[in-house]
Amino acid sequence: MYTLNTLYITELTTEHLHQPLGIDCVSPRFGWKLKGNGKNVKQLAYQLRICALDGEKELLICDTGEKETDQSIEVQVDDFEAKPMTTYRVYLKVWDNKERTAEYTGGFETGRMNIPFRSSWIEPCQEPTPSSFEEEREGDGVRVEEGGRDFHEFRPVQYIRIPVYAKKDMKRARIYATAHGLYRLEINGVRPDDREFAPENTAYHKLMYYQTYDITKFLKPGENIIGVMLGDGWWTGRVGTTGDCCQYGDTIGLLMDGRIEYMDGTVTDFSGEEGVSATGPILFSDLFVGEKYDAKQEIEGWSTVNFDDSGWQPVLKKDYKKDHLVGQFMAPVRPLQVFTPKSVITTPKGETVLDVGQIVAGHLAFTVTSEAGRNIVLEHSEVLDEKGNFYNNILNTNKEQTIWYRTKAGTQSYRPVFTYHGFRYVKITGWPGSISVDQFKVYTFASEMEDLGYFHTSDERINQLESNIWWSQVANTISIPTDCPQREKAGWTGDIMAFAPTLCFKRNADAFLTGWMANVRAEQMEHGEIPMIVPYLKAYATFLRDNLNADTSCGWGDAVLRVPLSVYEAYGDRRILEENYEAMKKWLSYIEDRAANHHPEEYDTYTDQQKEHDRYLWSTDFHFGDWLVPSMVLGNPDAMAMNNTAYATMRYVAPAYFAYSTLLMKKVAEILNRDSDAAYYSALYEKIKEAYIAEYVREDGTMEANLQGIYVITLKMGLVSDNIRPKMVEQLCRMIHENGDKLDTGFLSVLFLMDVLCDNGRSDVAYKLLYQTGCPGWLYEVLHNGTTMWESWGATGEDGTVSTYSYNHYAFGCIGEWMYRHIGGLNIVEPGYKRMRIEPHFDCGLDFAEVSEETPYGKVSVSWHMCNGQTAVHIVVPVNTTAEICLKDQIKEVTGSGTYDYIL
Ligand code: BGC
Repeated sequence: MYTLNTLYITELTTEHLHQPLGIDCVSPRFGWKLKGNGKNVKQLAYQLRICALDGEKELLICDTGEKETDQSIEVQVDDFEAKPMTTYRVYLKVWDNKERTAEYTGGFETGRMNIPFRSSWIEPCQEPTPSSFEEEREGDGVRVEEGGRDFHEFRPVQYIRIPVYAKKDMKRARIYATAHGLYRLEINGVRPDDREFAPENTAYHKLMYYQTYDITKFLKPGENIIGVMLGDGWWTGRVGTTGDCCQYGDTIGLLMDGRIEYMDGTVTDFSGEEGVSATGPILFSDLFVGEKYDAKQEIEGWSTVNFDDSGWQPVLKKDYKKDHLVGQFMAPVRPLQVFTPKSVITTPKGETVLDVGQIVAGHLAFTVTSEAGRNIVLEHSEVLDEKGNFYNNILNTNKEQTIWYRTKAGTQSYRPVFTYHGFRYVKITGWPGSISVDQFKVYTFASEMEDLGYFHTSDERINQLESNIWWSQVANTISIPTDCPQREKAGWTGDIMAFAPTLCFKRNADAFLTGWMANVRAEQMEHGEIPMIVPYLKAYATFLRDNLNADTSCGWGDAVLRVPLSVYEAYGDRRILEENYEAMKKWLSYIEDRAANHHPEEYDTYTDQQKEHDRYLWSTDFHFGDWLVPSMVLGNPDAMAMNNTAYATMRYVAPAYFAYSTLLMKKVAEILNRDSDAAYYSALYEKIKEAYIAEYVREDGTMEANLQGIYVITLKMGLVSDNIRPKMVEQLCRMIHENGDKLDTGFLSVLFLMDVLCDNGRSDVAYKLLYQTGCPGWLYEVLHNGTTMWESWGATGEDGTVSTYSYNHYAFGCIGEWMYRHIGGLNIVEPGYKRMRIEPHFDCGLDFAEVSEETPYGKVSVSWHMCNGQTAVHIVVPVNTTAEICLKDQIKEVTGSGTYDYIL
């Protein structure tokens, strides 16, 4: 067979994105992937040439010349400084060690950078939304039937028309826009892109993204209309666990600048200030509650030129701040999958329920033929009860998850605009005539990220678990990393702390998490506290301070360390560590201060030595601790039982996580060559360790808090001497066994459980947990119809009874990362998989496993198959990387790119 001797470049990214538009980055990082046949292929050199574009004309801005290096990710060009609102073309040439070259062209466009918006904020004339912080709240904590609640405090979606006159021969036209609330653009009746829920959920008062649109091909010479729909979103809408509204403001508005550049060099600027507004068919559209729509009030052609807007009102100029705006540098939320529901069922109670076949975050579109004035109601939920009837599992104020649609006459199509729900089942009432799945489409959403990781095994149950992890992850990466997509949609920091490595393996989350970390920094408090939720909504701050007297918790705040480190390890992104370094240190100083200067009530009774130890133990403040220890909450889903898991564990977990934070901080300091910091945190860690061992760890390897999670955390953080470690491991294994070979770990320990067992020579116990089909266990969920990861292991009981937990929490999906490493065998040795260790564990009880990852260098894959006592292993190592291959005790080799097959 003839093989082409070639080298290819398969992609060229700027700031980890493909052809980004509107990034505010002076010194962007470039990355590319190479593909070339042969073994041990390495890049010898690259050349980047960056040209500014002016129409079709190119102006060479810089040329690196031939740079001899194998660096192909995170490449910064020394003397290049990007200018605002400029389109760049990037030419890349690469040389490899096989005397081959390859070329590729990419590009990017900068945003406004420091160019201020010319336009003022504008607002349609509107009644402000009454703030729930000041007023009596409507709704009694449960879903109120239609008619029982009039939603009088909800405000309609606003429609704005902005006229734009364009001359002939346009070179380039752009809109820069953002909103208080959510907005959607149309140009002459056509949407310029398919983004949803803009602007992203950020700490709006401190940091707000504006979006850049290329509208060149949507404008025509002469009159044009920019149409904007404005809804409540996170700004004014009802959010979070309490369902409070007006987190940031009680009115919604728009900020928009537009610019058309012509071939002759002239320019037309336009802005939102010229707009007129009105309301239409959407009586309200709330992210959580849902949407109320009256089709008879539709305004046909509202965003087209030939529309009579004489009854519309001029918008009002507002003097709101604009100095916190940054060009959005992460990909937007978009439809992820659009599909037809699985079936329509009639429940034993006679309800008509649509089963979409999968728990998702999204909404439904439909087409219906009806007479006018019919009320169709769609109620969304994640589960049916044990009898198969519709069951609303998401309770509390403003959690309706409902669409109220009033028909016009004829055939009509509808899709909600500013709302999404967490659901699998939709109860439908008021539908005219017969109903079929073909009349519906399910829209699911996620912030756009490339899928990178693949994992598949010979056990269909494990494959379903992997699918469940994927679905929970996409549902919880809508704009920010969230806990769940229905009840809270909130940026709980502990959840992403636990899940970040799995997310980074499965999808390209670099820009997404970089964006969220900007919010973490913005929300960091005066003394260094990282709030438990980012963005830190007023509703949560009020609730947490009133109820727990806390803004932060151990483990939750540690997202400031573990998230950037996960990004660095998966993608080799060093800048995320640099950008967050000071915030990390500040978090550490906060904890150090709490430990050294704040002591428990019984402090006065301490011996001098205990007092000395207490300086290094975080032994005060509220913490969620090893939240949701299964044995304490299973079958007992009330808030008190949950809180008890916090109170029973926080005194051990907080000091242990303090040790962990110190270790992570030391690691970051080492990566960034901050030697004195590294030495400082190393010494601090030793002090914490000494104090922890003295106060908590007994000679026989047991601890007062006899909970699996406490042992796991203690072992993981290294808070045990070498001679006691085996006894503690034994104790942990004994407890697991006595628990029927089931885990009993909570939120902050489950992420380390499997590693602690495997690293201490007890992978046999880890496999028992993996294959455990009783509750709690990962496969229990799979065998009880789970299509996502649940908040509580026992959310559905053995007998099929369901509960009011969330069925879509990714946190316990943190096992994913262990499966890819341990079963698949793919381990990162140097960041970004520049060097990796391939070491599958064939004793894991499977006949077959395959893992692959689109690393920043290209795709690595490992698959192994056991048959008739032999194991066949197939490995593909990407160009420009090195793999240490360790297969049982038989193969140990270090190799470069290529395809490798072994029979063991
Ligand atoms: C959320 C969690 C979160 C927790 C804090 C819950 O309501 O859904 O996932 O981390 O509160 O303990």
